[in-house]
Amino acid sequence: ERLLASSGPLAGKHVIVTSGPTHEPIDPVRYIANRSSGKQGHAIAKAAVEAGARVTLISGPVTLPDPAGVTIVHVESAREMLQAVEKALPADIGIFAAAVADWRVANAGEQKIKKKDGALPNLSLTENPDILATISHRTESRPPLMVGFAAETEHVIEHAKQKLAKKGCDLIVANDVSTAGGVMGGDSNTVHLVTASDVETWPTLSKTDVAKKLIGHLSAMAEGAKS
Ligand code: CTP
Ligand code: CA
Repeated sequence: ERLLASSGPLAGKHVIVTSGPTHEPIDPVRYIANRSSGKQGHAIAKAAVEAGARVTLISGPVTLPDPAGVTIVHVESAREMLQAVEKALPADIGIFAAAVADWRVANAGEQKIKKKDGALPNLSLTENPDILATISHRTESRPPLMVGFAAETEHVIEHAKQKLAKKGCDLIVANDVSTAGGVMGGDSNTVHLVTASDVETWPTLSKTDVAKKLIGHLSAMAEGAKS
């Protein structure tokens, strides 16, 4: 198996994948989260292992088992995820599939917040660091191939192109989350691959097949960038 793995198209490459949601604490027992299951990110990590890569999977809280053959780092919050990514660098490819919470509670309680006579707690939100943009915009140890995702319900391509430019990554995998059945938590995905010069639309596929096809695509891109 070792022989097989080290002979794939990504042999000798280090791939960092982020996956799942993040949990942002309100107090020690409560948090803000989203519906991400981690299925797509975990499938990508698996496909990268099968392609011979050394894979670091940085996962938010999910119910999925750790995929075989990856170095797994479990994190809770966006800030922990950013730290874990920085620690895992350098890498040849970064694939940031996590549904990072956009906001966290600035004044999270150190103790459980108690009800008091109908008075509501005053939670103030602050923006989380943008992990994809932070890593894509740095000059030192930026992975040569940076891939982001975009969950959109309308103007999918247009929004993805804006995200590509704003975040400074090389490719955006745009999810059409308006698809019947629901992408978040579901087993299939309809994606558009958006680069600065091109848009490629794939048919609806299982998340496993999207992962395999994406890793094939990225292997070719990494190969092309060499020459
Ligand atoms: N992302 C990230 N860190 C964040 C927010 C997003 O790394 N704090 C990454 C996601 O992992 C994804 C990409 O950025 O690869 C796009 O995430 P998305 O939520 O679609 O974009 P946002 O910039 O957060 O914009 P919005 O949610 O307002 O559409
Ligand atoms: Ca967001």
